[in-house]
Amino acid sequence: MKTYELPHWMAPWIDKHLKAIGYGLSKPQKLAKAILNASTDYQESLSTTPWKDPAAQAAYLSYFFPLNYLRTLKVIDEGKRWGFFEGVDSVLDFGCGPGTTSKALLNDDEITVPQFHGTDIFPELGGLYLDSPRTNSEMRFHLQRPAKVDANSLLSASYVLNELKGTPPWFFDFDKLLVIEPSTKQAFPKLIELRSELLAKGFDVVAPCPHSHTCPLSESKRDWCHDRLHWEQPAWFQKIQALLPIKNNTLSFSYLLASRTPLTTEPYARVVGDALVEKGKTRWLICQGPEREFLSFLKRQGKAPLLRRGDRLQLSLFEKRGQELRFELKDLKKI
Ligand SMILES: C[S@@+](CC[C@H](N)C(=O)[O-])C[C@H]1O[C@@H](n2cnc3c(N)ncnc32)[C@H](O)[C@@H]1O
Repeated sequence: MKTYELPHWMAPWIDKHLKAIGYGLSKPQKLAKAILNASTDYQESLSTTPWKDPAAQAAYLSYFFPLNYLRTLKVIDEGKRWGFFEGVDSVLDFGCGPGTTSKALLNDDEITVPQFHGTDIFPELGGLYLDSPRTNSEMRFHLQRPAKVDANSLLSASYVLNELKGTPPWFFDFDKLLVIEPSTKQAFPKLIELRSELLAKGFDVVAPCPHSHTCPLSESKRDWCHDRLHWEQPAWFQKIQALLPIKNNTLSFSYLLASRTPLTTEPYARVVGDALVEKGKTRWLICQGPEREFLSFLKRQGKAPLLRRGDRLQLSLFEKRGQELRFELKDLKKI
């Protein structure tokens, strides 16, 4: 299992921008207060992130930005698995905020994108977006998205759909889409709708979906598709988190990667649930087609394998019993 980490440049970068608005990583109490207020505002569904308020900005920089950055890292890893970033000439980071997705892409040595365009409705974000710690790429910030979409362009929209009334029609002008949303039951229908539209327009939904049939969780009252990552918390984050009621020891998120050119070729199943340890067996909700299915490993078979939400699997042989697929360890391969 991969444990994600924040890059070394991030703490000094955040601290520099916090100091410019009267905050700092050395004052965790002041930050925790701002984060608590911002979290309440989010729960009360303020329409957009209130960037003009220094307290909201401090909360975003010290808390939501690093957490979304980590989420982006896992989505990037999934994309790289399918060659998703190969040939991308430009990225439009829509609703870029401080440039979370762009910065994560720029920080990846295996990804080269010549041009980045950040778009947000707040001019205050221009300075944060353009201050990128590592870049050989051309970077621009726009208050209005550039109307023309170049060939080989990737649209990224991270935690933005939940601030919009619906998916803008121009999303589908891009070759590739990277969309990240909160892992909430409320956000999920928007992603399901976006997935259906993408499939109807001929896109390959590269991840997390291993197939293009109806999503087996689209009608579920209990489950919605989301991934999870484990991460190493730096000391400065631990100090802030110690003052908050919410603990982010693992991070969850929902996402979609889609490409106009098909990229997925091999059949596989994805683990879409945490391990359910029951009396005589362990079960994992998996996705490999339109049916809601569980992998099931009986206690008498020995120690259950360590399968995590988001893992990709291939099963060469299994026995289907209702919704359950029983399998032997020798027939299971992680890909
Ligand atoms: C929750 S923040 C996410 C920021 C960043 N993408 C991230 O993942 O950390 C949502 C951002 O979308 C921006 N936004 C909301 N509506 C927008 C619109 N119509 N056009 C451009 N940006 C918008 C907000 O100003 C805010 O910066």
